Amino acid sequence: MSALSLTSETPIVVVGLGYVGLPLAVALAKKFNVVGFDISEQRIAELKDGFDRTEEIERERLEASSLAVTSSVEEIRDAGVYIVTVPTPVDENNKPDLFPVRASCETLGPIIGKNSIIVFESTVYPGVTEELCGPILEEKSGLVCGEDFYLGYSPERINPGDKVHTVDKITKVISGQTPEVVDILEELYCAVTSGGVFKASSIRVAEAAKVIENAQRDINIGFVNEITMIFQKLGISVYDVLEAAGTKWNFLNFTPGLVGGHCIGVDPYYLAERAKQINHDPRIILSGRAINDGMADFVAERIGAQLSGAGKILVLGLTFKENCPDLRNTKAVDLIQGLKVRGFTVDVHDAAADPAEAKEFFNIDLKGDLSDLPDHSYVAVVGCVSHDEYKDIQMSELERLLEPGGLIADIKAMWRDKEKPQYIRKWQL
Ligand SMILES: NC(=O)c1ccc[n+]([C@@H]2O[C@H](COP(=O)([O-])OP(=O)(O)OC[C@H]3O[C@@H](n4cnc5c(N)ncnc54)[C@H](O)[C@@H]3O)[C@@H](O)[C@H]2O)c1
Repeated sequence: MSALSLTSETPIVVVGLGYVGLPLAVALAKKFNVVGFDISEQRIAELKDGFDRTEEIERERLEASSLAVTSSVEEIRDAGVYIVTVPTPVDENNKPDLFPVRASCETLGPIIGKNSIIVFESTVYPGVTEELCGPILEEKSGLVCGEDFYLGYSPERINPGDKVHTVDKITKVISGQTPEVVDILEELYCAVTSGGVFKASSIRVAEAAKVIENAQRDINIGFVNEITMIFQKLGISVYDVLEAAGTKWNFLNFTPGLVGGHCIGVDPYYLAERAKQINHDPRIILSGRAINDGMADFVAERIGAQLSGAGKILVLGLTFKENCPDLRNTKAVDLIQGLKVRGFTVDVHDAAADPAEAKEFFNIDLKGDLSDLPDHSYVAVVGCVSHDEYKDIQMSELERLLEPGGLIADIKAMWRDKEKPQYIRKWQL
């Protein structure tokens, strides 16, 4: 790559082809010369075969796309733009695990060209792109950051399973080391999204904007989860309260729930870590996290309190959110564990998850068809994740699965308006 410019011939490489990287790479490939790179050979083999296990891109679209995919570093040498979309999880102590970001920089350093632009989309705290990634890329390339190659940051806002706010429609926040880099990123992202771009005033501002978007959601859900706990003890349904309060023009619309997944339950820890590094105690951020992390056990305790002694419970839903196969950091597992420690045996069904992943990640054997489960064998059926299949379930089917007097526990209020069968009890948050 010899000059800082963008044409339809400019080689663009997307690094990390997961929930974020693959849809972006497919969208970019409509307009540019794009190669997708992933260290997972299995992922590359599946994609070459037209199969996307994240269910973001259907087989026909994948097969029709001009996107090339590879796990060979040699095939991504000297590109004009590299867009890094690798994971940013936390470790077992909820500390940011920046290993994949570091590793991607170590991979890219030796192969970037003069005038390459390296844009990070992974969610990080302010400073990571310029203070961590830039120096690694410099060291591994022998080039000077800001003179020979350039940094950019553009956070990703898509939502797993969300088919409305897709990569081709949302507004992209962009930032770059120089105005020329920002211009190139504007051209690049405007070619794929009808939502346009917002030019953040610096890379650190763009990093900060992303991490607070998710921390804000976490804190708001934390508030609703806390009032849920209070109202449960007062014998009031929080959904009744939210419905009433929601008639005020400026009341914020959040509902209680188990906050899992790769983003909302993780990103606040990134911001908290940065705060601690500069001797600020992030009290609200960590309070929200603590409440949300304790929600699964609270729900297990409430369900247990309504059932006398042991018995078998059927949990409907294991993924971290509805209509999406993503099992990462799902808090349904904490709920299942909370029921088990209270003496119950737990069967699990999920309408969207891959049974092999459920086994591999959590040693859970998902049940097959609901209609094959025996009659009247559960003391409770817990509606844990509101997959469409569960929303549409007939109450008579739940009655068939439950012992007489059994409990329908509706965590997501998905059966709120359905009349319960006569000899079945119903409980919701
Ligand atoms: N999932 C979302 O909806 C979402 C939304 C907004 C932002 N984000 C952020 O985007 C980033 C990516 O998230 P994701 O959900 O797509 O993750 P993911 O786990 O689905 O995908 C990441 C991919 O990167 C690959 N990878 C890991 N290390 C690599 C390396 N060193 N080089 C090349 N490939 C590597 C993995 O094999 C995997 O295929 C994270 O920072 C996340 O917080 C995710």
